[in-house]
Amino acid sequence: MKKASLLLIALLLVVLSCGASSSSGENGKKTIVMGTSADYPPFESVDTQHGNKIVGFDIDMAKYIANKLGYNLQIKNQDFDGLIPALNSKRIDFVMAGMVDTPAREKQVDFSKTYYNSYQVVLARKGENIKTLNDLKGKKVGVQLGTTQETLATQLNKRLPMTLQKWDKLNEMVEALRMKRVDAVITVDTVAYGYTNKYKDLNQFNIKATGPAKGLSTSDPISVAFPKNSKLTAKFNKVLDQMDKNGEKQKLVNKWIKSQK
Ligand code: ARG
Repeated sequence: MKKASLLLIALLLVVLSCGASSSSGENGKKTIVMGTSADYPPFESVDTQHGNKIVGFDIDMAKYIANKLGYNLQIKNQDFDGLIPALNSKRIDFVMAGMVDTPAREKQVDFSKTYYNSYQVVLARKGENIKTLNDLKGKKVGVQLGTTQETLATQLNKRLPMTLQKWDKLNEMVEALRMKRVDAVITVDTVAYGYTNKYKDLNQFNIKATGPAKGLSTSDPISVAFPKNSKLTAKFNKVLDQMDKNGEKQKLVNKWIKSQK
């Protein structure tokens, strides 16, 4: 057998042996499996320049926490909308995907404390007069399926009729916006900065809780999600507290989030 195919088999064996959350890796540590939806930079995205590695703020946070708790970390990438079902069927041990702790989700899963807060924004093409929420009336507005943005847009839609489009992947929706197949996208400021910096044809503005958004929630505080009664919740909260105090979280905020502004 060629060296390359032997290497491939060895690699496969390593991958297979990390499948379940209870398995021990070569180093004797247990592996915990994180679910994410890597279409949401700077929180998580696929780095196509570097071997399609999944990178981002959530990934570095998770690596730090797993390391502190003595676990190996394995990451599973999938559509955002399937993350809670994956937790419930124990295919993954926790979710870090820029996910907000909402009352509806709390019926199904547990959440850690909040570890970052963003704000809802509208992302639109420059020069097309989409500058306030009212300008969305009658427009094609894209949101990611199963997100707090979908909830917000659904509520807005009752006051300000628009055509809602629901997408599985945020990055594909942003491409559609640039190709004029969607007129606007609702996402969060932190994510939109990356796109408005990269694509000079796009603009963003904050959704204020006034006018058509009066009384609606316009912030997007994120937490880690776990299966109900998971022992990991308390352990993660402890490390999140430590990271607040020892400056490690701020370092990662600077590296991934502040650096884009
Ligand atoms: N913060 C929003 C939510 O909970 C959207 C998160 C989308 N995350 C992602 N990785 N695409 O629901």
